[in-house]
Amino acid sequence: MNKKILRINKTIKSFNKKIFVEGDKSLSIRWVLLASLSKKRSVANNLLKSEDVMSAIKCIQKLGSKVTFKKNRCEIIGVGLNYKIKKNLILNAGNSGTLSRLILGLLINYDKQIKLIGDKSLSKRDFQRVITPLKKFGAKFLSKSKNLPIKMRGLYQPLPIKYFERLGSAQCKTSIMLAALKANGVTKIKAKKSRNHTELLFKYLKIPVKIHSTKNFDFINIKKVNHIRPLNYRIPGDISSCSFFIVLTVLSKNSKLLIKNINVNKTRIGIIYILKRMGANIKIVNKKIYKGEAIGDIFVKSSSKLKPIICPKRYNASAIDEFLLCFLVAAKCKGVSYFRGLSELNKKESPRLFWGSKILNYMGIKNKLTNDSIKIYGNPKLSLSKSIVIKNFLKDHRVFMTSTIAALTMGGKWKIHDLSSVKTSFPSFLKTLEDIKN
Ligand code: S3P
Repeated sequence: MNKKILRINKTIKSFNKKIFVEGDKSLSIRWVLLASLSKKRSVANNLLKSEDVMSAIKCIQKLGSKVTFKKNRCEIIGVGLNYKIKKNLILNAGNSGTLSRLILGLLINYDKQIKLIGDKSLSKRDFQRVITPLKKFGAKFLSKSKNLPIKMRGLYQPLPIKYFERLGSAQCKTSIMLAALKANGVTKIKAKKSRNHTELLFKYLKIPVKIHSTKNFDFINIKKVNHIRPLNYRIPGDISSCSFFIVLTVLSKNSKLLIKNINVNKTRIGIIYILKRMGANIKIVNKKIYKGEAIGDIFVKSSSKLKPIICPKRYNASAIDEFLLCFLVAAKCKGVSYFRGLSELNKKESPRLFWGSKILNYMGIKNKLTNDSIKIYGNPKLSLSKSIVIKNFLKDHRVFMTSTIAALTMGGKWKIHDLSSVKTSFPSFLKTLEDIKN
């Protein structure tokens, strides 16, 4: 058997299970970076041990932090807000958009040249979104390219800035927020709505941050700090990982699934709002607040009467990593669904809007694609028997996992390449799937 290829020839049988999924990737990377800014010991439990998070750990080690793992516990003793390291530093962000954008912000006050590199997929992604604000802080970029590899030189005393973040990118917003911690004065950000983990962590750490929210924007003011407190944190389960199994259950017959201890922050659960509007049977139970973040269990049942959706754009940021899964559900609805305002989706690990359409084409589901939208003509009777091969040349983990869910729910004979891509965000994906099957 070729270990890099997953073959699926039959749909999943009905199930009734309780599962856990691994720690949230956004929170894991933020914890690693914030812990590196404190000189005291920070401890995390249930840190996601995926390649993206490990790349973050390697980067902060190169920047002087000490990291130890003991079973499910990770300890970091950071270096504080200033770096005393040699020049010509090369940092490798691997596949991670989050790490690469955030670490450039963190290095704003490092007045020597750093070179940031990444894998093939990351090297195609847009860095102009962070280069522009970081230049305003005073950083110099030593090439004109908006792609990796990037050479940046920060400065001893960065200047505070005023910035309008108009993409709705939490990565871009957080990069600016991290730089703001080191800029002398108050940095003012107007940001189109996006996930707010950094804001919540800053508040918990008593960093001087003021936030005023309107319907579409957040206005964030941040003052320079002299030190960062250590951060002890129990990382909750990742809603993005959990979503593969939510959709697996929605599209399977006579099945039920309880997924325990998931981060259900409102800025992350767009997929739940969208699927509920489409008639899916999903409940969040046992809700509580942990250090500012909402945590809960998700209970989902097979949903036979699905309706199409004209998806409101206001859900785009909070479902940004889950649209491929929403498209699968739309494929099984009676009627036409429409998702729009999604140009950012083509700027992910691979052009995901385009891949969404491609997977639907393979499945024989009519769809109309533009640069930023897709119309999907669903077919509730869809039951495949043909052979489908999925090979994404940028080895996008979410394309692999979405295709797996399609194979298990739609029929057909699937050959899905790049099995090892799951290591990016969800190393135990297949093991969890086995737990559901058996
Ligand atoms: C992330 C933000 C999102 C998301 C990514 C993780 C983060 O990107 O797609 O997987 O942790 O801040 P953008 O906010 O840039 O759209």
